Amino acid sequence: MNKPKRYLVTSALPYSNGPLHIGHLAGVYVPADIYVRYLRMIGEDVRFICGSDEHGAAITLRAKKEGITPREIIDKYHEMNKRNFERFGMSFDIYHRTSDPLHHQTSADFFTVLNNKGVFTEKESEQYYDEEYQQFLADRYITGTCPKCSSEGAYGDQCENCGSSLDPTDLINPMSTLSGSTPVLKKTKHWYLPMGDYQEWVGNWIEAQQSKEVWKKHVVGQCRSWLTQGLNDRSMTRDLDWGVAVPLPDAEGKVLYVWLDAPIGYISATKALLPDTWEQYWKDEDCKLLHFLGKDNIVFHCIIFPMILHAHGDFVLPTNVPACQFLNLKGYKMSTSRNLAVWLHEYLDDFPEQEDVLRYVLTVNMPEGRDTDFSWEDFKDRNNKELVGILGNFVNRVLVLIHKYFDGIVPAETADIDTTLIDDALTNLPKELDKWVQRYEFRKAVDVVMDVAGVGNKFLADTEPWKLIKTDKAQTAAILTAGLKIIAYLSVYLEPFLPFTTPKLKAFLNLTEEDITAIKSGTFEVAAGRKINKASLLFKKLDDKAIAPQIAKLEAAQKAYDDSQKAEAAAAAGKTYEPLKPEISYEDFAKLDIRTATILAAEKMKKTDKLLKITLDLGFEQRTVVSGIAQHHQAENIIGQKVLILANLAPRKLRGVESQGMILMAGDGKNNLFFVSAHDAENGEGVS
Ligand code: 2FM
Ligand code: ZN
Repeated sequence: MNKPKRYLVTSALPYSNGPLHIGHLAGVYVPADIYVRYLRMIGEDVRFICGSDEHGAAITLRAKKEGITPREIIDKYHEMNKRNFERFGMSFDIYHRTSDPLHHQTSADFFTVLNNKGVFTEKESEQYYDEEYQQFLADRYITGTCPKCSSEGAYGDQCENCGSSLDPTDLINPMSTLSGSTPVLKKTKHWYLPMGDYQEWVGNWIEAQQSKEVWKKHVVGQCRSWLTQGLNDRSMTRDLDWGVAVPLPDAEGKVLYVWLDAPIGYISATKALLPDTWEQYWKDEDCKLLHFLGKDNIVFHCIIFPMILHAHGDFVLPTNVPACQFLNLKGYKMSTSRNLAVWLHEYLDDFPEQEDVLRYVLTVNMPEGRDTDFSWEDFKDRNNKELVGILGNFVNRVLVLIHKYFDGIVPAETADIDTTLIDDALTNLPKELDKWVQRYEFRKAVDVVMDVAGVGNKFLADTEPWKLIKTDKAQTAAILTAGLKIIAYLSVYLEPFLPFTTPKLKAFLNLTEEDITAIKSGTFEVAAGRKINKASLLFKKLDDKAIAPQIAKLEAAQKAYDDSQKAEAAAAAGKTYEPLKPEISYEDFAKLDIRTATILAAEKMKKTDKLLKITLDLGFEQRTVVSGIAQHHQAENIIGQKVLILANLAPRKLRGVESQGMILMAGDGKNNLFFVSAHDAENGEGVS
């Protein structure tokens, strides 16, 4: 791409199902805001899009948990998150929401275009269903053991432990998150994106993008791993009553998959922001589209959404997806549901007027290429040593001295001094900053600017104007004027990182728009006669007392989490088992005739929830057995299943049907029953 005419920057739409925490900020919103503020600073045409993601199981399950409606949930958290983003100084051009009718229309139209183009495959398939709640169970409505990494609590669409993309039917021991029961399989129709058909295209596209602009290693790595595993059909619709209705006559009770509608939310938000010109940002090849997000969203933005945009055909595709990894809490993964986080709203309440401290600490610890850790001790140290000790100290010393020695007016009487180091630092600053920002390396970018404050501090330490004033007022004036020039540059180039601080710096020096333009073009000089305002505190030193309550709060949350984990483990380990039955002799055991058999047919018995009538092949004969497993297994799913049957149990009648034996089952203590058998055993063979 030649130099873009304009930029569209999106930051992942957070679910409006809970408050924001610093993990969200460090991984998505701070990097996006730095990037956008930088582009604005250098005069680019950029629009910055965000809003609430208000559909999907994340919302409905939270509503269920809080005992309120999905609408109440989204209204509550949309307002809360919008407000706290504002308080934190996020410079979105719009904070939209996917419950907005404009979004419903936009995403329904999008679906219609894809459907009319024949992009989707309509398929009827068996999906898990919660009979108690009469609801199909997709995504987060179903959990189970991950087939890839064996971790418990994997969701129907993804294992958060290993990141694998899953289908609910992949889960081992599936469980409905609604009722806690084992779901049954039931037929339903959906519209699938045949991702396999686009696999080659998307693979080539991702590789081709690399020749234009390097993508982060971990982003490309994740994409390649998805592609290596092979892409399967993914359903773009769901059986739910919350979401964007599927705009087709034969799709009652179905909504769009949240991961289809949510990214289209970027388009509807742009429409809401720019009703007349939004297409310039979405359809003009000169627009550079960038998605900022966390690593758990990579596949959706690098594979699925590009496929969808490509299949649609009218839209530009992202130039880059500079996703971050995760910010952890000393090894603990931040989690809304586990209440393990440092919450944005609490920070803003507890540390008034210290938004930039958090921004700074999150920037220097940004999980750009690997997971990083946040700690309150590091927060305090960074504040004290870097913001107070370097930046604040430098600015304060220059301002205090210019007032003390020159009444706050830049003096005319000056001398020639060696400012080579400062001049070099200020000349290099814009180039270096641009280099790192354009590579989405914001840790290095902020260092480059903070280093200039360091150069200023060293300059003061070397020249000691507080001593020099006694012997050479003109040289002192020159030193302080050079210091003011550094502050002027910092007031411009720190803006993407410390937007609450830089207006104060500009105000200290009474900088005008013309001055700022001159700084950006490298022609600014601090002229004699300029009035400088008195210093006010930029950053407060924090002592241990200031962070002690935060540490205590976090430790309490971590302890509560550890305790709950331990309790779960203890419950599993210290589980009470049925006491053993009285001892029997070998002769007693030898009386049991246990044989391998195969289920030939099965049907649910009328007027009972529990019983299945099962026909078995024992090799030498066929038998009928009535088995109480209907709540655990669907009749049609067990045909062909190998089982063990206690074959010499006296027959007995159950609901009018004679049961000729008993099928052996094993439980897991969690209401699941499994067949016991040897796969390769022959029907009719015994067990010894
Ligand atoms: O992971 C999440 O929080 C999602 N709500 C992000 C959606 S990003 C986009 F597609 F809207
Ligand atoms: Zn897993």
